[in-house]
Amino acid sequence: TLEPLIDKNFLVIAHRGASKYAPENTMAAFKLAHKMKADMIELDVQLSKDGMPVVFHDAKLDRHSNGKGLVSSFLIDELHQLDAGNWFSIEHKGEKIPSLEQVLKWASGKIMVNIEIKKESVGDLVEGGVEEKVIELVQKTGMEKNVIISSFDYRAIERIKTIEPKVLTGLLYHKKSSSKRGPEKLLRDYRADYFHCSRSEMNKKWRAQLNEFGKRYLIYTVNKKKQMEKWIEMGAYGIFSDKPDLLREVADQYLS
Ligand code: G3P
Ligand code: MG
Repeated sequence: TLEPLIDKNFLVIAHRGASKYAPENTMAAFKLAHKMKADMIELDVQLSKDGMPVVFHDAKLDRHSNGKGLVSSFLIDELHQLDAGNWFSIEHKGEKIPSLEQVLKWASGKIMVNIEIKKESVGDLVEGGVEEKVIELVQKTGMEKNVIISSFDYRAIERIKTIEPKVLTGLLYHKKSSSKRGPEKLLRDYRADYFHCSRSEMNKKWRAQLNEFGKRYLIYTVNKKKQMEKWIEMGAYGIFSDKPDLLREVADQYLS
């Protein structure tokens, strides 16, 4: 069994799984991240045409599968027939686009999960209650204490807290939606627990503000050793990396 997320000092997060070494957002990438002793996997979720949460980053299938067009215009059964590994390497031919349910069932008791809800690419076209469906799956798989649900779409973050206040949420900083509000104001406005920020946007003033406010921040995406060391020293609560093996090594050295 897993210890609750809240008891952790630092999180090694595999960005889309161990995506440097295996096709992103596939079971191969998630299993490898677990083998590399990541604390958490990050994955991207959107709804299929029949309203099932599936794990895929882009709004369109084209780049990371052999499909074409919007993920949201295909049924889950059609998505499951696609190949999501061959674009990465021939050895990964046959990898499938997983459903969120499949990943959470596998992860339960094994590894924590950051579920990133993708909505910004399709905007208001997609409603369909993705937040309710995600929460339902988290509850069904007993993962309530082992997930962070995050989004660049602040309405989604707010909605999660309304449905299930006990689930931890991360606000993904996005310049466009933030209207000059700093982290403290944003976390208050959307009742979010953590501030997720790209490494190029985080700054000293915000770090001080978060510290004072007693809130933690997580940084994406860091693949270089020197930068990993820097962010751990500066007190990041978690780092998203495509190379969870390297981050594990650096973190173990710093935190021991
Ligand atoms: O959740 C952190 C990071 O994954 C956000 O950006 O585009 O990689 O989903 P993206
Ligand atoms: Mg993501």
